[in-house]
Amino acid sequence: MQVISSIKELFEVVSAWKKQGLTVAFVPTMGNLHAGHIGLVKQAKTLADKVVVSVFVNPLQFAENEDFDSYPRTLKDDELQLIQIKNDLLFSPKTTEIYPKSVNLPPPHDSFLYEVLEGKSRPGHFAGVVQVVSRLFELVQPDIAIFGQKDYQQCLVLKQMVSGLNMPIKMVCADIAREEDGLALSSRNQYLNPQQRAVAPAIYRILNKTKQVLSIKTDLIKLEAEATEELLKAGFDSVDYYKILDANNLKAVTKATDKLVILTVARLGKTRLLDNLITSLV
Ligand code: PAF
Repeated sequence: MQVISSIKELFEVVSAWKKQGLTVAFVPTMGNLHAGHIGLVKQAKTLADKVVVSVFVNPLQFAENEDFDSYPRTLKDDELQLIQIKNDLLFSPKTTEIYPKSVNLPPPHDSFLYEVLEGKSRPGHFAGVVQVVSRLFELVQPDIAIFGQKDYQQCLVLKQMVSGLNMPIKMVCADIAREEDGLALSSRNQYLNPQQRAVAPAIYRILNKTKQVLSIKTDLIKLEAEATEELLKAGFDSVDYYKILDANNLKAVTKATDKLVILTVARLGKTRLLDNLITSLV
């Protein structure tokens, strides 16, 4: 596997591939790779001739009170995991390469999707994600990019960015990878103590329960309140939100809604656990 941190070298490798007519799939990450990321890379390998994985902890997507400084940085281990699955290229740029003073980043976009749910809990987060991903796309020039569905809102924001900027990139939002007990894989799971870890799978159980009882006649607000209550009873310290929304745009469900998403963020101590399920009203 090639390990590259400079843009110049990245350009050389990618343009050589393109000259040979090879397609490129891209998996952007913030490192601390776990089985969920490895699944994305394996999927990427089936979709294109070459795969680039980036590891970059993006300062712009963390608010001041968040865990940027303590976010786990495990580049050597990430590299070993990627070598094992025969990934083609690991790009781990320095902040000065991604954000040099001379580069023109897209202005933060003013959009409903930026402001609801995660956008409300984490002001500025999606503007930061869009800035880094648009810059990484410009550098890597992928044909396909793969993101995990666990960050469902991020998938929608980035799809909107790609279509808004007419980028010729196919966006794939891959299924959530889970532990055997249903807990969605996340770098933040390692912050959980054993007691919290035992409570955590209740999220997936409760999401599934909501999915099972959903029907055209259901009172969604009541269902959201009941599920929130169940999460608290299961041992969560607080619930940031539990919402049943139109999966296409995160707006309220209407008669025209064909696809729904149940999204939640619940807290155990300082750790925020995100999860979601996609469903339909049949
Ligand atoms: O999902 C993530 O890990 C990050 O938000 C991303 C897409 C790599 C941008 O920094």
